[in-house]
Amino acid sequence: MIYSSSLLGKKIDAYLRELPLNREPKGLYAPINYELSLRGKRLRPILLTLSYLLYKEKVDTVLPQAVGIEIYHNFTLLHDDVMDRSDMRRGRPTVHKAWNEHTAILSGDAMTVLAYRLMADCDSLYVKQVLDAFGQAALEVCEGQQRDMDFEARDDVTVEEYLEMIRLKTSTLLAGALKIGAILGDASAEDVQKLYDFGIKIGLAFQLQDDYLDVYGDPEIFGKPIGGDIIANKKTFLLISACRLSNAEQYERILCWLRTTDYRPEEKIRAMTSIYDQLDIGTRCLQKIDSLYAEGLTMLDQVSGRSEYKRELENFVNTLMKRNL
Ligand code: IPE
Ligand code: IPE
Ligand code: MG
Ligand code: MG
Ligand code: MG
Repeated sequence: MIYSSSLLGKKIDAYLRELPLNREPKGLYAPINYELSLRGKRLRPILLTLSYLLYKEKVDTVLPQAVGIEIYHNFTLLHDDVMDRSDMRRGRPTVHKAWNEHTAILSGDAMTVLAYRLMADCDSLYVKQVLDAFGQAALEVCEGQQRDMDFEARDDVTVEEYLEMIRLKTSTLLAGALKIGAILGDASAEDVQKLYDFGIKIGLAFQLQDDYLDVYGDPEIFGKPIGGDIIANKKTFLLISACRLSNAEQYERILCWLRTTDYRPEEKIRAMTSIYDQLDIGTRCLQKIDSLYAEGLTMLDQVSGRSEYKRELENFVNTLMKRNL
């Protein structure tokens, strides 16, 4: 039997539902249940299990690690939404809105502990390697998030700096998921590295797409309001490219919007989007996404492992590429 990514998603959800999280104090656990029950795409756990399935069959043995990485990801979202002042996620109020910021901090902290416990819940043969891979990814997410915040106050961020920031905040967790799956599958060191590199590339594409959808997405489907990055002066690929390609007058307007503190949000979003449109920044962003995905798929090609699961990974990544949520 071949596990499709959608079947794996169901297994992951079933495992999550079985975790003993209906506990006291409610103030700590209810927000955790709330966040985990708002279904995300389950991207990271699906990558982890598919990576394992390239080499071995017993998918149930890696569900703790798959769910651990999903819980860690959801923790980063709780804190990210406080840092980004975001009120909506997955079409619902964020935890710091539905409860308060203290709750988002502490429930988030508890989620990292739960994630580490699940990570360590594997054959002792693999514990050190798995925890090393996870610890590296988890720390790099924090490094990327710090850079993301530092960049809000700068207007000279380069594309290279941006790509390094998103490699840290987003790619390393996707790459880490693939690496952990491969370690648990006893893949060769070469394959572990290739899968990691594949994850880095698709992670970059994935974050660029998130930035694109933050401007051009449909809020009903995307689940987050449009324009949050523009309001927060996030140095996205779109904004950095617009700065680079603008003429003197357009650049003045961009700088003016970045520095103004007294404005109506809709007006700033409309004005910045119109500059992006004039410069055809959306198309440039989509081209960059396509080339990163293509580079990633070339790396996947070089991985050994069962061909049916290489195909499944490729299909999964292809559907992500076409995502609008
Ligand atoms: C959101 O990640 C944060 C980013 C790295 C862009 P996802 O888009 O994977 O979020 P969910 O879990 O599917 O909601
Ligand atoms: C998220 O980047 C990266 C994380 C590590 C959480 P964003 O801030 O763009 O993610 P969203 O748009 O809020 O989901
Ligand atoms: Mg953020
Ligand atoms: Mg955010
Ligand atoms: Mg975003």
